[in-house]
Amino acid sequence: MMLRRLLVIVLSVGFFVANAQNSHDPKMDAFIRELMSKMTLEEKLGQLNLPSVGFDVTGPIVSQGVEEKIKKGLVGGVFNTFTPNAVKKLQELAVNNSRLKIPLLFGYDVIHGHKTIFPINLGLAASWDMALVENVAKASAAEAAADGLNWVYSPMVDIARDPRWGRVSEGSGEDPYLGAEIAKAMVNGLQQGDLSKPTTVLATVKHFALYGAGEAGRDYNTVDMSRIRMFNEYFLPYKAAVDAGVGSVMTSFNEIEGVPASGNKWLLTDLLRKQWGYKGMIVSDYTSINEMMAHGMGDAKAVTELSLNAGMDMDMVGELFIGYGAELVKSGKVSIETIDAACRRILEAKYKLGLFKDPYLYVSEERAKAEIFSADKLALSKDAAVKSMVLLKNDQQILPLQTSQKVAFIGPLVNDQRNLIGSWSAAGDWKQAVSIQAALDAGNYKYTYAKGANLVEDPALLKRLNDHDGRIESDPLTSEKLIAQAVKVAKKADVVVAVLGEAFGMSGEAASRSDIGLPEHQQKLLKALKATGKPIVLVLMNGRPLTLSWEDQNMSAILETWFGGTKAGDAIVDVLYGKANPSGKLSMTFPRSVGQIPIYYNHKNTGRPMDENQKYTSKYLDIPNTPLYAFGHGLSYTQFTYGTPELSATSIQPNQKITLTVPVTNSGNYDGEEVVQLYIQDVVGSVTRPVQELKAFKKVKIAKGQTVQVSFDITVEDLKFYNADLTFDYEAGKFRAMVGTASDKVQTLTFDAVK
Ligand code: NOJ
Repeated sequence: MMLRRLLVIVLSVGFFVANAQNSHDPKMDAFIRELMSKMTLEEKLGQLNLPSVGFDVTGPIVSQGVEEKIKKGLVGGVFNTFTPNAVKKLQELAVNNSRLKIPLLFGYDVIHGHKTIFPINLGLAASWDMALVENVAKASAAEAAADGLNWVYSPMVDIARDPRWGRVSEGSGEDPYLGAEIAKAMVNGLQQGDLSKPTTVLATVKHFALYGAGEAGRDYNTVDMSRIRMFNEYFLPYKAAVDAGVGSVMTSFNEIEGVPASGNKWLLTDLLRKQWGYKGMIVSDYTSINEMMAHGMGDAKAVTELSLNAGMDMDMVGELFIGYGAELVKSGKVSIETIDAACRRILEAKYKLGLFKDPYLYVSEERAKAEIFSADKLALSKDAAVKSMVLLKNDQQILPLQTSQKVAFIGPLVNDQRNLIGSWSAAGDWKQAVSIQAALDAGNYKYTYAKGANLVEDPALLKRLNDHDGRIESDPLTSEKLIAQAVKVAKKADVVVAVLGEAFGMSGEAASRSDIGLPEHQQKLLKALKATGKPIVLVLMNGRPLTLSWEDQNMSAILETWFGGTKAGDAIVDVLYGKANPSGKLSMTFPRSVGQIPIYYNHKNTGRPMDENQKYTSKYLDIPNTPLYAFGHGLSYTQFTYGTPELSATSIQPNQKITLTVPVTNSGNYDGEEVVQLYIQDVVGSVTRPVQELKAFKKVKIAKGQTVQVSFDITVEDLKFYNADLTFDYEAGKFRAMVGTASDKVQTLTFDAVK
C-alpha cells in the first residue's frame, strides 16, 4: 500500500515536471485544458484522425464520409485539400457545424515547392547553399500558406545510400552532417520561428526513422541496423530538425529492430520524446498503422493499441484510432492519459498556428493571387535550378557553349515540360514549366533539333508510368528512324547537346530500379551520336545517381541538372551558354555499377583495405572500389587551385579551437563559386570510425584571379561520436583533417586531441 502510494507520488511528480517543461505558454495550456475538459472521448479521438480529402492519394482509399465526420467532431485535420475555396468549405464544416468548433489542420506534401516548383531535393542539396535552401522553404511555405494549407509534410531527411531507392530524389543524399544542416535550414524556412504568421506552416520531419535504409533499395522494405550506426550515421538530420523546433514528426513505413516505426515505443517515446525532448505532435505515414497488420503485428485492434501506446498522436488515413480507440480505453488497454496527451499535442499545434484565433488565417484569395507564381518565386526557382546543377565532366572546356557554334539539341527532354518538375511536385503545374526549347527560343539562340529517342521505350514501364500521369508520348517513328534523323542533324553541327535521362516517375515513391543506367535505347542513341565524331555534351535529367561509366568515357561533358523545377529550361540554357557558372557538388555518390551498392564516401575501413597487388584484400575482381563520381564532386567553368593548408596548432584541448586555413585561388577564366569541404577522420577509436566524415563546408565566391583564405574552426565537438555505450563524446588521440574540393580530392593534415 505504502509502496503504491509512493509510486503514485513519484509518478505525479514526474508528470508535473514533464508538464512544466511543456508549459512554455501558460495561456495556451489554460486554453487547451479548458477546451479538453469539454471534450468527450470520441471527440478527443476525432482530433487524432487525419483523413485524405481531395486530389492525390498514395495508397488505398480508406477515408469515407469525411464531411459527416467533420461535423461530428471526428476529424482533426485533412490532407490533400488546398486552394482557399476548398479549404474554406471544409473549415466551415468544422467551425460552424461541430459541437466544439475546433478548426482543422490542412496538410499537404509540399516537398520542393507548392505551385512554383524548385529543383528536386537531391538537386537542391547539391547546391550546398543553406541560405538558398532556407529561402526555397520559406517561399514554398508562403505559397502553400496562401493556398489554404497550414501544415506540410516536409522536410524529408532520410539518409540514403542506395540509389536504387526512388525516394533518394526527395532527400538530401548520403551524408549526416550535410543532411542535418539542410534539415535545419528547411525547418527554419518553413516555420520562420513563428507558426502564427500567415506565411508560415507547420513543418514535418520525415520519415522517422531510417526509411532510407530499406534492404536492396526496394521501397517500404525491411531495415535492420545496429544502434551505434543509427546514432552516428542516420539520426542526425531528424535530431537537427527537432532541435530546430520542427512542429511535427512523421513515422516511417519500415520496421526498426523488428518493430514497425508506427508502433515502436522505443523510437517514439524513449528516444524522440524523452531523450531528445521533442514536444510536438507525431503523425503516422499513409495507413502505416494499418500496415502493421501485414508486418505481422496482429489484428486491427492490436496494432491500434501498439501505436497509441508507442506514442503516436495522429492516424493518417487509417481510421483505426477512431475505430478502436474508445474500445481500447474502455477495456483499459490504452489509458485515457495517453489519448489526452495525443489530443493535447494536436490542439497545441492548432493553437500555435493561430487557428483558434482565426480558423481562416490561411484562406485568402488575395494572398493566393499575390503569392502563387509571384515573380520573386520564379526568379528563386531559376536561381535554385542553376545552383543545383553539377558539372560532372568538362573535357577541354567544351562548356560553356559559344553562340557562334552550330549546336544540335537532341533528345526527348529538349522540349519536355512534364518531367521538369520531377516527382512529388504534388500541386505543381507542369504547364508552367519552361522547357529547354522554350528557353532557347526566348533567348533567340540558333540551334537545330531532333528528338533522337523516346524517353521510355520498354512497353511495360511505359504503361506503368503513364498509368500514374506520366504523360509520356511515344513517337510513331521506330527507334532506328529517330536515331537516323538525329545523326543527320548531329553531322551538320559543331557540338551536340544530348538531353536524356529518366522520366520523372522513374524516381520518387514506389519507384525503385534495379538497373540505374540510362535506358538502353537512349544509350543506343548516344552511341550513334558518338560515331559521328562530334563532341557531345550530355545534359541529364534524373532523380537519383545513375551509373554512367560508358558516358563518362565517351562524352565530352556531362551536366547533371536533376529535375530542375518550373524554371529549369531557363536555368539550363544559362548554364550551357555560360551566363551562369555551375557550382553544385554531389551529395550522393555516383557508383560505377549497381554491384557496388551500397557505396558511400564515409564508410569504415576493413582489416584488409584494398590493395591491387594483394589477392586477399577487400575489393572486386572486375571493378575498382572507387565510385565514378565521389560525394562532394562537381566542377566549375573556372579552376580552383588549393594552396597548402595550415593548422593553427597541432593539438586540440577541451574548450579550445584550432583553425585550419587554406588559400583557394580562382586560377581560371570565370568568376565562380567553390564549396570548400572539411573532412575529419578519427584515426584510432574505441569503436571503428569512418575513413572520413564531413564536418564543415563553406561556399565561397571567388572572382577570377583572386585568392581567398578559407578557414574552419575545429573544436572537440566536431570529434564527438556515439561509442559502444551510446555515450556521445570524443576520445583523445590522433585525427586527420582533410580539406579540398571533393571527398576524394583533399589535402590531409594531422592533429591530436587531448582530454
Ligand atoms: C506517403 C509518403 O511516404 C509520405 O512521404 C507522404 O507525406 C504521405 N504519403 C502523404 O502523402
